[in-house]
Amino acid sequence: MSSPDDPGDKKPEEDSDESRRNLLKVGLGVSVVLLLGGVGAVAKSLISPGAQPIVASTTTQTTASSSSSISQSATLPPPAAPGFPVILVANVSDVQVDSPVNFNYPLQETPNILIKLGQKAEGGVGPDGDIVAFSQICQHLGCIYAFIAPGSSPTCNSSYTASGPVGYCCCHGSVYDFLEAAKVIGGPAPRPVPQVILDFDSSTGNIYATGMMPPTIFGYDTGSTDVANDLQGGTLV
Ligand code: FES
Repeated sequence: MSSPDDPGDKKPEEDSDESRRNLLKVGLGVSVVLLLGGVGAVAKSLISPGAQPIVASTTTQTTASSSSSISQSATLPPPAAPGFPVILVANVSDVQVDSPVNFNYPLQETPNILIKLGQKAEGGVGPDGDIVAFSQICQHLGCIYAFIAPGSSPTCNSSYTASGPVGYCCCHGSVYDFLEAAKVIGGPAPRPVPQVILDFDSSTGNIYATGMMPPTIFGYDTGSTDVANDLQGGTLV
């Protein structure tokens, strides 16, 4: 015979109620643990000196459309054309109209001429779009030509007076129009001299050489207009 306290005397509905109570207790305990854990984690992130701030992921933009990128890279050289070096040629404050700046690029053996023309020119950079640069090696037979300002004459030919800014080769009289990407306007040269690709940083005034336009520099022309040939035959600057 069983007593009233004997578990075997519990009715089925009493077992069910007790099971539900036990489940509620377990669920409540788990919730409290999770809640305390979450609060602890947040508190730790606020007070821990080594905690890392959560920041939004960022991407680096290399285009001129990113104002933040411009401000961060304003003093950095621009990217080069494939295979070409980047060099600082001059600062715009040091470049005067019709006063050439000579520099070697992309090889130590290949001279170029940078000039501020005082009027907008094809491929020109700077505040007035009038600063250009070209290979100084004549495309006829490779002599070094000279810049001739408008109204001036080359030392080798006083009978010639330039009507505009030109490059004049005293070897055989080839003339290159600096306003029109060194188009040949006189003499035996078969093609223009290559134009140097310039990049102007308006925040610093720096003018960089970043590449060369076709055709290739005389002496390295294999019959192709691949400017990669300009990187052959000497030592990069
Ligand atoms: S080498 Fe320049 S014109 Fe002949």
